[in-house]
Amino acid sequence: MLALQSRRRTGWLAGLALGSALGAAHCAPSQRAGPPAAVVPAVSSPAPAASAPAASGPAASGPAQAAEPDDARGGRLYDNWRTERRLSQSFAADSPKTPEPDGKGGPNGNGTLNDGAGRPLQNTGHDYRLKNLFGWDLRGADGVDGPAYHDEPHVLRRNLLTDTRSASEIQRWLAEGDARTPAYGQVLDERDLSDLTAFLVKTRDGELARPEHIFRLEAAAPEGYELVAGADPARGRELYGYTCEDCHGKDGRELTLDGMQSVGTLSRSVAYEVWFKIQNGLAGSPMKRQVLEKTGAESARAVLDLLAALCDRKAFPALRGRDAEDVKDGDARCGAYLK
Ligand code: HEC
Repeated sequence: MLALQSRRRTGWLAGLALGSALGAAHCAPSQRAGPPAAVVPAVSSPAPAASAPAASGPAASGPAQAAEPDDARGGRLYDNWRTERRLSQSFAADSPKTPEPDGKGGPNGNGTLNDGAGRPLQNTGHDYRLKNLFGWDLRGADGVDGPAYHDEPHVLRRNLLTDTRSASEIQRWLAEGDARTPAYGQVLDERDLSDLTAFLVKTRDGELARPEHIFRLEAAAPEGYELVAGADPARGRELYGYTCEDCHGKDGRELTLDGMQSVGTLSRSVAYEVWFKIQNGLAGSPMKRQVLEKTGAESARAVLDLLAALCDRKAFPALRGRDAEDVKDGDARCGAYLK
């Protein structure tokens, strides 16, 4: 079973009672991934991916062949490489609250990473996470974290979805950094960088779900987004039943998320983030990629159908006693899906 060691932002372990931990671990193999894999990969093996039933991958024979990059893992590294790589013990980003670098690990031994010129890049609160530099929608300042929407202070002016560089150029850039982007090659290895690159390039090229097929930016809406119209919530409900229910419970309240949220309330309020977790899994957790469709368009559709279904406040209520914090009638985020 996976070591449930690493934490995300808030009380990962705290929020996860032992019972649910066991439950989650127990239900992990029942993901809709087709027939049970013959070999259950060990914790750190490069899970040959939720992706298509790959052209009969290299079997046990032969020495280490380069595995196909795991783009779902790449997505989780994009979210939080430290958690996904289980580096919480060895690396702590230097605190943005103090002027002196006082973190742990990394090339300078103090929790800073260097920029492309080898100079320490201070942590101004981004914690060197790619999702803080480019947003959950990969669009940098053009996207949901940009000045027109969340106006996040750390977001960079680089839209990874309109980036025209080749995969090898992107991988080199990730490894070496630039004036504002850390040189991730100081803390990540070749496999990590190639998984990350696969995630970025496949999302850009539409082989994975593209965020604009799931939500559109709308400055007037709370959180700056609205779900795209035209989804099928009934199908989403069905998908929920055989994909999520084992772990999250029939009505999405089995696991407590973010300390106080159900799957319903979290999905109704921050779908611009939840889509990413459904698509790639949650860094450092037993939740892996949940959509195994073959094309990006189909994946986007499955994620959108799920999110539309989760806009039903009766079927997927708030945690007990927390109804008041749920979205209200007329809230624009769920659009016409809100029930
Ligand atoms: C293998 C079990 C498992 C499956 C299957 C699963 N999840 Fe999760 N999910 C988890 C665990 C464990 C967490 C982390 C709970 C915590 O933070 O303590 C989680 C967290 C989440 C979160 C919160 C992410 C965050 O940022 O905190 C959302 C949203 C979510 N799941 C939605 C879904 C949806 C929708 C599905 C189905 C498409 C699904 N999950 C399938 C186990 C699972």
